[in-house]
Amino acid sequence: MSLTKDTRVTLNDGNAMPILGLGTYASSDVPKSVGEEATKIAIDLGYRHIDCAYIYGNEVQIGRAIRSKIADGTVKREDIFYTGKLWCTFFSPELVRKGLEQSLSDLQLDYLDLFIMHWPFSLKPSGAEQPTDLDKAFAYDNVDFLSTWEALEACKDAGLVKSIGVSNFNRRQLERLLSKPGLKYKPVCNQVECHVYLSQSKLQAFCKSHDIVLVAYSVLGSHRDKNWVDLSTPVLLEDPVLAQVAAKHNRSPAEVAMRFVLQKGIVVLAKSFSAERLKKNLGMFDFELTPEDMSTLEGLNQNLHYGPFKELKEHPEYPFHDEY
Ligand SMILES: NC(=O)c1ccc[n+]([C@@H]2O[C@H](COP(=O)([O-])OP(=O)(O)OC[C@H]3O[C@@H](n4cnc5c(N)ncnc54)[C@H](OP(=O)(O)O)[C@@H]3O)[C@@H](O)[C@H]2O)c1
Repeated sequence: MSLTKDTRVTLNDGNAMPILGLGTYASSDVPKSVGEEATKIAIDLGYRHIDCAYIYGNEVQIGRAIRSKIADGTVKREDIFYTGKLWCTFFSPELVRKGLEQSLSDLQLDYLDLFIMHWPFSLKPSGAEQPTDLDKAFAYDNVDFLSTWEALEACKDAGLVKSIGVSNFNRRQLERLLSKPGLKYKPVCNQVECHVYLSQSKLQAFCKSHDIVLVAYSVLGSHRDKNWVDLSTPVLLEDPVLAQVAAKHNRSPAEVAMRFVLQKGIVVLAKSFSAERLKKNLGMFDFELTPEDMSTLEGLNQNLHYGPFKELKEHPEYPFHDEY
């Protein structure tokens, strides 16, 4: 069966996730209204999976975009798959539902399709209030993600979210979660950085063996926000090998970078706030990479994390000390 923008993958709880998602993170200098307009355009183009998060500070605008496309009859609520993320300062079990309700209230939606723990580590707000935007003022906290998970299970039981999952978990952390006594729901997904320079084959194999879907972020080589990404890292979309494969198929490097991840069997998130690129990126469904192309691109892997979140590397739950 050929893959299309309407293809969905069945999750281990029976729900279904579209295999292409729109990324909505942008640095704070980008007006939030730009993401709102882009989300409307993306929905018009046929994107049905929207990836966002409390800490992106734009759920009001992204929710408004979704609701406007429901109001004008382009989609129904059930056509849209919305992913939200529990920020690390909401990990205390009594705060989990509050964090979710804040997102629902900002979005003006009754439920989320998927709610995931944004990282495995817990943090304390740096001031009296919860952070409203990603900043670098971090204070470690030591809430065990197993207790957070129980509170997430309760949110699913309450009907506030359809599915629950994790993000940026390594194998050891997934194993700990999967072997939690009394586990009620397995995570449906692990959303991680994944692209031609970080192909995640071992983590993918582990997740597959437990029926956990791998969801890839920074497929296009990340936002390269200087606050979070080391700008001496190679620019993925300028890779010469990627360019050769793209030229062979008469496609853009972005389409090939996305197609590579898709053909590995991984859900692709890609962010663009440009109408032209949102449209162009859908071209990834119109061609196929050969097994030789796939192994050539696999050869680019160098386990490069564009977003290693090094500020947190002393946290006991920092995920990237392990090989995968
Ligand atoms: N779970 C997590 O911890 C986590 C971490 C990072 C990201 N994410 C999620 O994953 C999403 C995607 O990751 P990302 O934001 O790191 O970035 P990305 O999807 O790798 O790349 C985005 C960059 O590529 C550009 N772009 C898009 N299409 C292009 C094309 N055809 N040609 C050239 N450039 C193109 C975009 O610019 P324009 O907008 O100008 O097109 C943007 O600057 C995020 O938005 C967020 O939703 C999650």
